Amino acid sequence: MSQTPAAPTAPLAPPGPDYGPTSQGLKDGGTVEPVREILWGSSVGIRKYETAEEVPEAMRKLIIKLMVVQADTEFASIQQHRPWLDQAPVLEDRWIEARIVADEARHGLQACRILRDFGEEGQQYIDELLKKREGEHKLDAFNMKFDRWSDVGAFTCFVDRVGVYQLRAFQECSYGPLARAMPLMLSEEQLHLNFGASVLRRMAKDGPKYYGTKAEAQEAIHKWFPRALDMFGHSHSETSMKAIEMGLKRWTNEEARARYLTEIAPIVHGMGLELPPTDFDRHVM
Ligand SMILES: [Fe+2]
Ligand SMILES: [Fe+2]
Repeated sequence: MSQTPAAPTAPLAPPGPDYGPTSQGLKDGGTVEPVREILWGSSVGIRKYETAEEVPEAMRKLIIKLMVVQADTEFASIQQHRPWLDQAPVLEDRWIEARIVADEARHGLQACRILRDFGEEGQQYIDELLKKREGEHKLDAFNMKFDRWSDVGAFTCFVDRVGVYQLRAFQECSYGPLARAMPLMLSEEQLHLNFGASVLRRMAKDGPKYYGTKAEAQEAIHKWFPRALDMFGHSHSETSMKAIEMGLKRWTNEEARARYLTEIAPIVHGMGLELPPTDFDRHVM
């Protein structure tokens, strides 16, 4: 029996970048239709995989690999943020720092829960992840320290924003439990990158009246922007092609990197700051 959602009693929220209209619909007693079929890749149109047991072997390996990297970045960023929990210069910044750390811990937990569904093998990876110390992580961006407050701003503005593209690439992917984890993680990440942009903007505009200097903000951009671009991975990565074919990822590394560049350039220029050339100090092309 199908139920007709109740008629809205208040005007719908204007379409926002995220989940405004959906939230309003739910408040009004509506439901959100889950997407059941695979939307892209070689199995388009068939039902999504909903349990670890039914996932084909090659896909199982790839989901584990992707979730290990995902969880590793979440746990690493907690280590990077930790010294700033009681050093953020402004009261509100200090609270947001604490909140970011809590969010990253939850994201790590969420990625590990997906790993745990893959039984003993997944649990072994979780045990290894929990032992990793600073400097032992997979991606360079997560082995670098936040030496100054401008690093916190640039990391959250640039590196967390890459994280958002990685999560958006998983949105509505062919593995149901992973697809369903995305909306909450994405809404939390949005806070992180808005915060990062706000730190850099305040440094650039107000200088020592806020904290630090415009020059420090610029130096931090030169430090983190190349590492952020590296995070997308090699342009002709076979793994990323496989992930698209399996319906796990939406974009190739190069497509995601191009989208990111289109988004970040006006944000940085709006702060009166500059981006270095895209090939500056790059390790992974
Ligand atoms: Fe995160
Ligand atoms: Fe984040």
